[in-house]
Amino acid sequence: MIETMLTDPSLVRRADADRVPEEGGTSVVNPSTGEVLARVPVIGADGVRAAVDAAEDALGPWSRRTAHERAEVLRRWNTLILENRDDLARTLTAEQGKPLREALGEITYAASFVAWYAEEALRTYGEVIPTYDRDRRMVVVREPVGVCAAITPWNFPSAMVTRKAAPALAAGCTVVAKPAPGTPLSALALAELALRAGLPSGALSVVTGDAETIGLALTSDPRVRKLSFTGSTAVGRILMRQASATLQRLSLELGGNAPFLVLDDADVDAAVLGCVESKFRNSGQTCVCANRIIVQRPVAERFQAGLVAAVERLRVGDGFEAGVDQGPLIDEAAARKVERHIGDAVAGGAVVLTGGRRHRLGGTFFEPTVITGVTSDMAVAREETFGPVAPILVVDDDEEAVRLANDTASGLAAYVYTRDVGRVWRTVERLDVGMVGVNTGLLSSAFAPFGGRKESGMGREGARAGIEEYLETKYVAFAGLDPVEGGQDGHAQTTGR
Ligand code: SIN
Repeated sequence: MIETMLTDPSLVRRADADRVPEEGGTSVVNPSTGEVLARVPVIGADGVRAAVDAAEDALGPWSRRTAHERAEVLRRWNTLILENRDDLARTLTAEQGKPLREALGEITYAASFVAWYAEEALRTYGEVIPTYDRDRRMVVVREPVGVCAAITPWNFPSAMVTRKAAPALAAGCTVVAKPAPGTPLSALALAELALRAGLPSGALSVVTGDAETIGLALTSDPRVRKLSFTGSTAVGRILMRQASATLQRLSLELGGNAPFLVLDDADVDAAVLGCVESKFRNSGQTCVCANRIIVQRPVAERFQAGLVAAVERLRVGDGFEAGVDQGPLIDEAAARKVERHIGDAVAGGAVVLTGGRRHRLGGTFFEPTVITGVTSDMAVAREETFGPVAPILVVDDDEEAVRLANDTASGLAAYVYTRDVGRVWRTVERLDVGMVGVNTGLLSSAFAPFGGRKESGMGREGARAGIEEYLETKYVAFAGLDPVEGGQDGHAQTTGR
């Protein structure tokens, strides 16, 4: 059981256990071993309503605290996350499978959102707008949106919770979080630490259980004023449709199909390194990971050889083993999708340069794979593979590279390697995506606005933009401030009276 691996087993428990009713339990399984780690409650629609009740009760007291007081709680939460980093990382590796080194990185990443939004809480400025009238003032104030729902994915079970909850709490909102059914323990542990940091009970609840039931209950409750979701485009569409009934504000961080462009003047060694970082991080189960490697012909052979050599050095195994670079895929369906993409590509004439099969460890472990001769009509290029497969498409010029890069309904991230600053700008400006990495395969940061265009969703997380998503704008017109001097000229100008 997971408790035995934790220095502090009480970390993994429900903060809202006294208020939110449950209807049985479901197992959390380690994808590396198949071992049952823990059982978590199945919260039904009544339980979700109770969590929203609790969030609503907590909203007034929490939003009335000063921004400085809220920031103080977030700072303590950040400290507790970092103090419990080892336990949180072990929990994460156990339920999700990623190597412990990556899990430790994710916990630091998760904490960085809390630290950043503790500071941003202090900068939710309003404004005063100059008017025509001496006796009038126009003032804009920022207020918390209210009760928010956060639906988080299994690929980053810690960082996606803090990326949503920290800005919401900093703004004065309260949150009901629904982690992915397979990876709820990280979210539970983070919520427990938030309570210990002084967050009032009900301000951050975690509801575990069936995704559809909870998603419907959250989107159909008019008291929930905003939903932030990270996950697939297909589920994003469903949630958007459901949320139209209550007109909830939405942030949707959905699927990607990131092109990784290697132009013919690129530093090929750097491009290989960046490609491995981008493509094989989290076994390729990352929405911003390179999904199509688009390489210009003059450097294609050297790039391919470098990539194959680097990929063959990656060690696959249980995330708890020292030196492991790549854990298992999350489940059988994920492994089958990877197999389907490789099979389709090979049937269409692509060639597997390395990997291409399940790993000899069995289960959902998969060999890090490179395939070449890929064309843009193949499933591996059209769909998000979400697995450790690097498909290479060879092109002749910048025009073709950009055309292929944009030839997708997704618009999340893109990468470009070139040493020419003119080519950098020309390419960046033509890429129809929300984020571009230039000569880097890693983009993610709490200080940068993360999000996409087209079917990759809407809204931004991280940076200053991330807290804006949780703030309403209220305009206040003050009149009668200067009754002696003040005319109504400007007002008359607007109203015609
Ligand atoms: C995601 O895959 O949804 C998030 C990845 C990241 O933050 O880097």
